[in-house]
Amino acid sequence: MTGRVFAVASGKGGVGKTTTAVNLAAATAEADRSVVLVDYDLGMANVGAVLDIEAADATLHDVLAGDADPLDAVAAAPGGFDAMVGGTDIEDFGRADPSKLRDVVDVLRGEYDVTIVDTGGGLSHDTTVPLGLADDVLLVSTPQVAAVENTAKTRDLAARVGGDVTGVILTRVGSRDGEGADAADDLGASLLGTVPEDGAVADSEDAREPLVAFAPESPAAQSYRELGYELLGESPPVSFRDGDEEAAPASAGAAFADVADDDEPERRSLLSKLTGGLLG
Ligand SMILES: Nc1ncnc2c1ncn2[C@@H]1O[C@H](COP(=O)(O)OP(=O)(O)O)[C@@H](O)[C@H]1O
Ligand SMILES: [Mg+2]
Repeated sequence: MTGRVFAVASGKGGVGKTTTAVNLAAATAEADRSVVLVDYDLGMANVGAVLDIEAADATLHDVLAGDADPLDAVAAAPGGFDAMVGGTDIEDFGRADPSKLRDVVDVLRGEYDVTIVDTGGGLSHDTTVPLGLADDVLLVSTPQVAAVENTAKTRDLAARVGGDVTGVILTRVGSRDGEGADAADDLGASLLGTVPEDGAVADSEDAREPLVAFAPESPAAQSYRELGYELLGESPPVSFRDGDEEAAPASAGAAFADVADDDEPERRSLLSKLTGGLLG
């Protein structure tokens, strides 16, 4: 098997990367893929804080230190996927060798349909490594100008290390954030989707479950589900489409999978669909 590897990246912290990585993992697992989520925020590991993950025999830090095999650091997470999390001791940070991530990902590619790597914010070495080895770099930003400017730096960094930027996901979009489409234009990146500001995100973190599983019909869960299926080139199940029995055209997912084409009309209509006509 040769699985597909996504890296979730942003210019700064606190914009919704981990939320996005966790919920894309849950959504692609719901689409019947075998999925592993790697918590590669080596300094501030936080997947383990927002998900109730069983203890594995080893941590990602052990693996990156050469002290354990990658599959020994994988454990079941709520939401139907596996997760590999880091250690929490301060000395773990010094032991980890980021350049070993390539070997880890190669092993995971052979075992899972989908590998999702959550990264830290900023432009440090440990952020750069996953950008260069992912098949798809997914940029995450809020629509605020400062966040978009930082995300542009990450986009440039990804290009420099040979990363393939698939597009940008705008998170925490409020009803007044009509600038969503502008933000994507400023980045020169396809807008893959928008995720609304949703109080259910914090509730799902308290419950230590992915939002997609905890509150499947909440607005942000629906956005993440759409995004997950569409990244796989599929349409989400009809039962989750805003209570609307009218299925979207079956071609919607396939058209979206071809984002490299930059097909303006289809991209716009998808954007419009994702935002309920707010954007696009
Ligand atoms: N769509 C959303 N609606 C409301 N709050 C959100 C949303 N996405 C993320 N958050 C909140 O924003 C904060 C940062 O999110 P997180 O995913 O941890 O960002 P990062 O990994 O980029 O640092 C968290 O407190 C999270 O609960
Ligand atoms: Mg994070």
